[in-house]
Amino acid sequence: MAASDKLVAAARAVRERAAADYSGFKVGAALETRAGDIVTGCNVENATYGLTICAERVAVFKAISEGHREFTRIVIVADTESPTPPCGACRQILWEFGGDIEVILANLTEVKATLRMKDLLPMPFDRRLLGS
Ligand code: THU
Repeated sequence: MAASDKLVAAARAVRERAAADYSGFKVGAALETRAGDIVTGCNVENATYGLTICAERVAVFKAISEGHREFTRIVIVADTESPTPPCGACRQILWEFGGDIEVILANLTEVKATLRMKDLLPMPFDRRLLGS
């Protein structure tokens, strides 16, 4: 199985674990580390709605807390005909920790789009502006 197929399969599998009782919109994400490990995440909703965390941020925060710091790609899976891109908050976090990584958008049967973070977040606010 090609590396990208494995990543897509991991995102599809973790999507099944989404706690998306409020929206019914399940999302899975699989983040690839530079070393080749895969860290997954699903969206986790909450009765307040506002405390929901998207699949992408769950994957990034899990990865950081497990000691990973360098990333190459992320696959995002939703059951939609059009590609489901990361929300604004997730773009900020993906840029912060992943930089210009590849972003692969897939649904349950096919890959719909492949982009780079710099195209999804063309004028980022980041540490360079803080002088650090
Ligand atoms: N969601 C994600 O997890 N990732 C995205 O890229 C888009 C939106 C989640 C948040 C919420 O649980 C549900 O999808 C509907 O917005």
